[in-house]
Amino acid sequence: IADVQDMIDHELVSKAQIAAKIEEAAEQASKDYAGKAPLLVAVLKGAVNTLAAFSQAMSIPVEMDFMSLSSYGSGTESSGTITIRQDLSTDVRGRHVLIVEDIIDSGRTLAWLAEELKRRGAASVEIFALLEKPSRHEVDVDVKYHGYVIPDEFVVGFGLDYDERFRNLDSIAVLKPSVYQGGQA
Ligand code: PRP
Ligand code: MN
Ligand code: MG
Repeated sequence: IADVQDMIDHELVSKAQIAAKIEEAAEQASKDYAGKAPLLVAVLKGAVNTLAAFSQAMSIPVEMDFMSLSSYGSGTESSGTITIRQDLSTDVRGRHVLIVEDIIDSGRTLAWLAEELKRRGAASVEIFALLEKPSRHEVDVDVKYHGYVIPDEFVVGFGLDYDERFRNLDSIAVLKPSVYQGGQA
């Protein structure tokens, strides 16, 4: 069984860089949401690692909830269709919602989700995105707390997967081409 590290071509964002950016954004969000009892919403599955780190870096009480959406099948390209696999358990009416997301690629997932939460009556909806690929944006998404801008390479790690694998990597990386070609590399 090959080690995950052996399948990495190069690292794009290190563990330390991820932590620094998340802490900076979470500190600002703690100020902005003071007294507002924000609801942090993570899009499963990719945002789980980012939500864990972001929420722990916040210094005010927060609630968390999860929504499972998918815009990708098993490949590396967005299918363009958003599907709800699992909905929130929280009524967002009147709530200040902060969506915590791992990556904005085409923007379709978050453009859809932000609109949906406003439609449900949220008092406010803002976004933190750890990674953004501006070159791939197809729709506009209003991001309040920015992470890192990355080039148009398929990345994995810190929640991001390739065919459901590599979410457990603690940095953001590009895989060796052989991983895509070899199936069960
Ligand atoms: C990925 C990623 C974002 C979304 C971004 O999720 O985690 O949620 O795609 O793409 P977009 O901006 O083009 O919509 P994915 O659909 O792969 O599901 P996952 O989080 O379970 O991996
Ligand atoms: Mn996702
Ligand atoms: Mg995915």
